[in-house]
Amino acid sequence: MTHSNAPYRSRIAGLRALSIDARLDAIATSSGLAAEQLTALSMAKALPAQTVDGMIENVIGTFELPLGVAANFVVNGKDYLIPMAVEEPSVVAAASYMAKIVGENGGFQATASDPIMRAQIQLLRVEDPGAAKHALLAAKSEIIALANSKDKTLIDLGGGCRDIEVHIFENTRIGHMVVLHLLVDVRDAMGANTVNTMAEMVAPLAERIAAGEARLRILSNLADLRTVKVHIKVAPNTLATKNVSGDEYVDGIVEACALAEIDPYRAATHNKGIMNGIDPVVIATGNDWRAVEAGAHAWAARKGHYTSLTRWDKDGDGNLEGTIELPMPVGLVGGATKTHPSAGAALELMRITSAAELGMVIAAVGLAQNMAALRALATEGIQKGHMALHARNIAIVAGATGPEIETVAKALVHSGDITTDNAQRLLQTQRAAKSKPET
Ligand code: MEV
Repeated sequence: MTHSNAPYRSRIAGLRALSIDARLDAIATSSGLAAEQLTALSMAKALPAQTVDGMIENVIGTFELPLGVAANFVVNGKDYLIPMAVEEPSVVAAASYMAKIVGENGGFQATASDPIMRAQIQLLRVEDPGAAKHALLAAKSEIIALANSKDKTLIDLGGGCRDIEVHIFENTRIGHMVVLHLLVDVRDAMGANTVNTMAEMVAPLAERIAAGEARLRILSNLADLRTVKVHIKVAPNTLATKNVSGDEYVDGIVEACALAEIDPYRAATHNKGIMNGIDPVVIATGNDWRAVEAGAHAWAARKGHYTSLTRWDKDGDGNLEGTIELPMPVGLVGGATKTHPSAGAALELMRITSAAELGMVIAAVGLAQNMAALRALATEGIQKGHMALHARNIAIVAGATGPEIETVAKALVHSGDITTDNAQRLLQTQRAAKSKPET
């Protein structure tokens, strides 16, 4: 543990208005994070050349993203300051704002399944698929014993292969396929290496039992046995704003979700908004965001129809109820979670103690992000708030530097015309006004 025992607070008043350095100080005070970890999250961080050169091939440098901290999250009664690595404006602010409202309503309630990953062994040229399935299932103990014979560390931690499944497919081009699944408890690892190694080790035995030829031996990214579920209940009065009543927000969010449930065109956008919350935390913690993305979308289509990852309803008392459920193959050990110093510091910032806990927090951010998007879409639309936050980007694109960024961004928002052309005009006007001699 590299943090103090001072009380941890996810609420930091006025965080957005602070300078980057003052924000870091505020995060340090509220989280008790050690100086070394803070540095690893700050602008001063630098991935050592030796580390990056060891991470991938043909390295020529690093690629940076802004790292923000979403405030106000309370999941299962515990406070979290959430690191988010993302380039899109309004994502961090929206998550923090929704988390504040949810916090006033008891916070996010989350559960996680056991961390079970699947590995698949594809068996081809099997004479009798039915008999092969029967034989594989009959040899379950032998298969599990072999799968668990090498990774002593995982077994000592309470993990290991728990069960098997056998699936049979017909294919017009290549005939029968028998696919053996190993269901493996990977504990706090993401688990890809663990289950891939097991699959390769078990394949020769599976070939003998099924009298076939093993081809693919790899995990499934549809981690449907490793899921998290998060639920919130929000009273309408806590949603109300000056111009929109709480009831209007509740109805608007429920109606917006209804389209995503039935229409894949809308579901793709709805789920993209959810991933706006999920991916930045997955990235900041050094996890494999492609695996989480693949699992989320495969899960959304698992019933043969691509649908929403969330569900929004109004209960009998008029409260808004939101739920998200999806696979969450993230880990705390192995891969970039350990090699990337910022990833370790990000996990420390949240005081995460298990992969399941991390998964629940990540899903809570996804639910908050979805709530923010639907809340805006159902009322004033997304562009007003988004463009106001995007104005700083536009000012930078137009050539503003230093304090000009803020003054041009403000003038852009005030003008209601948030375009690069207008930013250039405003920048010129401001510079001209500045260079005019005082009279
Ligand atoms: C934009 O990045 C995300 C949204 O399109 C999500 C949504 O439509 O629900 C606003």
